[in-house]
Amino acid sequence: MTLFYRLALGAVLLLILNQCTVQDKILQQTADKVADKVMLDVTDQKVEALLAQMTLEEKVGQMNQYNGFWEFTGPAPEDGDAKVKYDHLKTGRVGSVLNVRGAASVRELQELVVEESRLGIPLIFGSDVIHGYKTLSPIPLAEAASWDLKAIEKSARVAAIEASAVGINWTFAPMVDISRDARWGRVMEGAGEDTYLGSKIGVARIKGFQGDDLSADNTILACLKHFAGYGFAEAGKDYNTVDVGTSTLYNVILPPFKAGVENGVRTVMNSFNVLNGIPATGDAFLQREILKGKWGFDGFVISDWGSGKEMIDHGFAKDLKDVAVLATNGGSDMDMESTANVNHLQEAVEAGLVKESYVDDAVRRILRTKYELGLFDDPYKYCSPEKEATLLYHEDHQAAALDMAKRSIVLLKNDNQLLPLNKQQQKIAVIGALADDKSSPLGGWRIGSDDGTAVSLLEGLAKYTDQISYAKGADVVLENPEFIKELKINETDKSGFAEAVALAAKSDIVLMALGEVGFHSGEGRSRTKLGLPGVQQELLEAVHNVNPNIVLVLSNGRPLTIPWAAENVPAIVETWQLGSQSGNAIAQVLFGDYNPSGKLPMTFPRSVGQIPIYYNPYNTGRPGPIDLVFWAHYGDESNTPLYPFGYGLSYTTFEYSNLQIDTTDAATIKVSATVTNTGSVAGEEVAQLYIRDMVGSVVRPIKELKGFEKFELAAGASKTVTFSLGDQELGFYDNTGNFIVEPGDFQVMIGGSSDAGLTGAFTR
Ligand code: BGC
Repeated sequence: MTLFYRLALGAVLLLILNQCTVQDKILQQTADKVADKVMLDVTDQKVEALLAQMTLEEKVGQMNQYNGFWEFTGPAPEDGDAKVKYDHLKTGRVGSVLNVRGAASVRELQELVVEESRLGIPLIFGSDVIHGYKTLSPIPLAEAASWDLKAIEKSARVAAIEASAVGINWTFAPMVDISRDARWGRVMEGAGEDTYLGSKIGVARIKGFQGDDLSADNTILACLKHFAGYGFAEAGKDYNTVDVGTSTLYNVILPPFKAGVENGVRTVMNSFNVLNGIPATGDAFLQREILKGKWGFDGFVISDWGSGKEMIDHGFAKDLKDVAVLATNGGSDMDMESTANVNHLQEAVEAGLVKESYVDDAVRRILRTKYELGLFDDPYKYCSPEKEATLLYHEDHQAAALDMAKRSIVLLKNDNQLLPLNKQQQKIAVIGALADDKSSPLGGWRIGSDDGTAVSLLEGLAKYTDQISYAKGADVVLENPEFIKELKINETDKSGFAEAVALAAKSDIVLMALGEVGFHSGEGRSRTKLGLPGVQQELLEAVHNVNPNIVLVLSNGRPLTIPWAAENVPAIVETWQLGSQSGNAIAQVLFGDYNPSGKLPMTFPRSVGQIPIYYNPYNTGRPGPIDLVFWAHYGDESNTPLYPFGYGLSYTTFEYSNLQIDTTDAATIKVSATVTNTGSVAGEEVAQLYIRDMVGSVVRPIKELKGFEKFELAAGASKTVTFSLGDQELGFYDNTGNFIVEPGDFQVMIGGSSDAGLTGAFTR
């Protein structure tokens, strides 16, 4: 770079610095960082050179993303909206599109932009590749139940390989919204209720999607979402108001995002909700001060679908021009489908409502990402018909999906070792519509995949035995469920009960496949009742009347309230929605070829009235129990969950002993215990370390997960697990967002669940 260029850049920055308001300080810091890099970084030099050639209209064009649900097989399509989009693509007024898939379609659009627009800046192609593209892994909540970071990273890697083979180079995942409310349908898309586990899993997914080299043709951009607070929608109703205190914001909601930023995530999506009365899309505190300022995030922020426009409904913006102003000033860099930036941002800048330096900052971030992907070198690098023809549904991907699916299953109950099934078992009845369902296991986020491509439970079982008889019993839903439509639940039709009951009566054992269909959970799928939907509970009880020897094979995208089953059914297996290989994975677990090792990433309530229920609340001033009524409890329900966070059984048993706390080095306290496999088969265990900070200047939860390790032990074998506790684990955020470490007394607990284990204490 020439000296002149450096000096000119310095002068421009100085000018900017002098003109800035207080709110701009964060932007200045970002610009400083960018400027510093310009001295060193070739990519930034290219970005600056390109930016210098761009008109304001082209700049705001980069900040616009369109949905591409229209066919592009010739000149401008008939429909007006598509015509506008088509013209905008040709004139450089689009930076990215979502939902265009397939090597040929992507190439067609990319060619249009690269060859016809003035500067030929390539598009980024985004899509919700949440847990796979064609080959689907378990839903993210299920994967989280594996506590297996390597397997989760691999699952994301497979998703990236398939997605990049059809032209996609950006996924809107991982969702790292912590949620304590199973009514919220999107819990299926996250890692559950815990910040520590959620942070680790978020980072594993980012690594899987982005790999080590973003410019490789099989790695894609990850996107942390939804920034921030979306998982705390009031009453679990999607899109609802979020109203959390600062302690929860800093200690529970934000850390998984921070961890993702520290681990190189390149994009972040903001969210639909308000937080303290400010819609996240226009929230400068979240996006400018924290994300880009304190955390130094140098990728770009995309709005959620139309979340800019929704600021009008929130009563925060008066029209689309106001949206462009508020979103850009708030730090949102790219507008998904609100059409506010493309139509109004230039005018707003010209009117002095938005500084052009904000626009430049956003465009720098977007261009840089395009350079990192290697799109300027080869805009068609993700458009390979050969890869598309050979990599989708690849057998290696199916093998990875099967492995992930087995690891995600959680054994909730197994009285008298009813499981595993004897391979020679005679007369197995299988009951429930979900057993024969080849779509529900694919979950709710299956936009790239094909309906009916999962291995059903019946198909999986058939590989083990021909002694299966099947009766549906009852449908879960009355019509084929659709992604965008409300479900029609079967609340009345019990015409299949008699056949199912008769079959159960003459069988040795009954496998009941009950729970939710794939579209029961996901976006817009909030529920107030969390029992088995429709007539399934009645079916379960009717069958139980004639044959109580039941294994309940649950499928669901969220914790369910199943107190009757927990009391009356001898064996319960939580299989979530396990993806393409579902039936094979469940069969391997039921027949004992894989010993279940999953642990719940989210508390199972006894009843909906307990929600939010989670393992790490504050103690309150009246934790009880006492004989009088004046303590924190319900008069009609226990305080305890049905199944706690971190819980899950195995076909073997593990015992914890010999807790040791070594405080010799106060900077890194070592806590260890011996874990022994006391059963007769090999198995995997997830040893979990929890702490409690006994007294804090902001009160601390009664338990906090601060370490875990998953390992396999042969029957009779032992292992010492050791965890380190330093400032990072023992500190917390105060109510102004500063991370502090306070001296004092701590309790520790090591065990195989959040509610059982060895306890000890130390002072630091
Ligand atoms: C969801 C996002 C998703 C986007 C694009 C929105 O409705 O909230 O998570 O990435 O749509 O499909």
